[in-house]
Amino acid sequence: TLHCAKALQLTLAVIKPDAVAHPLIMKALHQRILESNFIIVRRKDLKWRRQDSERFYAEHSGRFFYQRLVEFMSSGPMRAYILAREDAIAHWRELMGPTKVYRARYTSPDTIRAQYGLTDTRNTTHGSDSVESAHREIAFFFPEFQIEDWMKKEEPCFR
Ligand code: TYD
Ligand code: MG
Repeated sequence: TLHCAKALQLTLAVIKPDAVAHPLIMKALHQRILESNFIIVRRKDLKWRRQDSERFYAEHSGRFFYQRLVEFMSSGPMRAYILAREDAIAHWRELMGPTKVYRARYTSPDTIRAQYGLTDTRNTTHGSDSVESAHREIAFFFPEFQIEDWMKKEEPCFR
């Protein structure tokens, strides 16, 4: 039987339009992913229509920031990654830092949002926050990616 010392996990990481607009920031973020021991499973450049944005962030409809969030996320190209490593979800969220840029700058200045974020809405990156949302969000961005098949075929230590 196979012993898995570390259970691997998938997450969805997205570079938002504010960062994609700056090639040097894009490059720095790509480098940061590689340096942080993630495996890049898939990568895709895309642009949302307004309705994609509304659907993806439906859980936030009614919040005070929803309209500007929807507007911003469909305002320009994005880059999405499926990333793998052990505890990928928590590690990517830790690298991103807190949602609100001014909090990020104050509490965790080494994080991506502290370093590159412009405002609470234009905050550079997205990361899934649970196994359930990772699977849902990977399917949203990569509908052609067969997550269960891939995990079975490529890596017996996924969870
Ligand atoms: P949320 O899921 O709370 O944060 P995270 O991206 O860290 O998981 O919110 C989703 C996005 O909504 C967030 O990345 C940016 C936007 N947002 C605002 O513009 N203002 C806010 O006060 C909050 C909480 C979020
Ligand atoms: Mg969230």
